[in-house]
Amino acid sequence: MTEKWTPQSWRNKPIVQVPTYPDQNGLEQAEAQLRTFPPLVFAGEARNLKQELAAVARGEAFLLQGGDCAESFAEFKPDNIRDTFRVLLQMAVVLTYGAKCPVVKVGRMAGQFAKPRSADTETIEGVELPSYRGDIINGMEFQPAARIPDPARMVQAYGQAASTLNLLRAFASGGYADLHHVHSWNLGFVSDSPQGERYQHIAEQISEALDFMEACGVGPASVGRLRTVNFYTSHEALLLAYEEALTRIDSTSGEWYDTSAHMLWIGDRTRQPDNAHLEYCRGVKNPIGVKCGPSLAPDELLRLIDILNPQNEAGRLTLICRFGADNVDKHLPQLIRAVEREGRTVVWSCDPMHGNTVKAEGGYKTRPFDRILAEVRQFFAVHQAEGTYAGGVHFEMTGQNVTECIGGAQAITEADLSDRYHTHCDPRLNASQALELAFLIAEGLKEERKRAAA
Ligand code: TRP
Ligand code: MN
Repeated sequence: MTEKWTPQSWRNKPIVQVPTYPDQNGLEQAEAQLRTFPPLVFAGEARNLKQELAAVARGEAFLLQGGDCAESFAEFKPDNIRDTFRVLLQMAVVLTYGAKCPVVKVGRMAGQFAKPRSADTETIEGVELPSYRGDIINGMEFQPAARIPDPARMVQAYGQAASTLNLLRAFASGGYADLHHVHSWNLGFVSDSPQGERYQHIAEQISEALDFMEACGVGPASVGRLRTVNFYTSHEALLLAYEEALTRIDSTSGEWYDTSAHMLWIGDRTRQPDNAHLEYCRGVKNPIGVKCGPSLAPDELLRLIDILNPQNEAGRLTLICRFGADNVDKHLPQLIRAVEREGRTVVWSCDPMHGNTVKAEGGYKTRPFDRILAEVRQFFAVHQAEGTYAGGVHFEMTGQNVTECIGGAQAITEADLSDRYHTHCDPRLNASQALELAFLIAEGLKEERKRAAA
């Protein structure tokens, strides 16, 4: 029998990847303050997202999830939020066209602050300090004071998440997301990209489709849905003190929701079945993601599914696979077979970022564009072979013109990395690389539909 769940029950379980706060008093104060703050999202919205994800699980929609590896206090600027949102919309149009189905839009935004780390400490030139764990916990500067976990940062992160979400809501419903605008930005991208001709064809077909719709009287002026999008937020549920403080009972359903975001995921490093992160996530009704890496065995996955989705509810669980381009073949088929054998309903999504990180000359962490694309292709190929649905993609990306991942049409090289390497954690696709990927995936989706129809 499972023990009773409460928002605090994770505190009785083993836990990894969380800081020890020297200032316990300050921690309790910050938590108390957060508990009095308004929820950032409404439970009804999380239920809507669950329904949209249930459509993905049925093969009737496609999931696009993306944003920063780590949001930061320093990069908190309206233009950055706008630009990431804009690129996600541009990708969504292209994917909607390629997949010929609705695209569920989820940002890694408005709360993606806490980072698991491979080592507890970092040593530079003989000086050893605690690792940076994301702006919601400590500071990135390599200074002893900055690296001390500071509970006041949770309150600052809440404030930043609230105003980020406020802007996103305005963009999503205020006219910025107008389908015709978004498409015209895509035409701009195609005409400026060195590989533009390659994408021109799809862009022209979308233009034709929009013109035809317009001629039939279906356009943004007459159909409100063409001017707005449903846009959802998500982040890794890592810093459980923060998540707990924002966990509220929904008065409509009487159920618990984590109101810090619509969707939360559990990282590959914190998905131990008996540990705190599983315990917390099993009790909130939001859609939940689980990062699946090479070390996840099929029977362990089934155990996680049992814990997180005992009712086998569609849209509750998204498995975000991150194996590395060369390892998809080795790990994904057995996970799919286990899930199919047991009749479990999940969304399969592909994170082609985290299994393809390499160290470049000069010490920069980078990710080759070709490896990222290769992992997506492998993911689709395995699902096709297994007869299951490749339901989505999960990217670390930004709307800025950074130089963090190598390759793509701009042909960013290892030597270019130092030009604009701004990430607070992992290397992100820049705006043009992210869009290029969307075009390439759309091409693949179109081919797949042709094959399926033949
Ligand atoms: N509301 C529809 C959707 O979200 C159509 C739409 C409007 C749209 N603006 C968009 C789609 C921008 C993608 C991107 O699918
Ligand atoms: Mn990352």
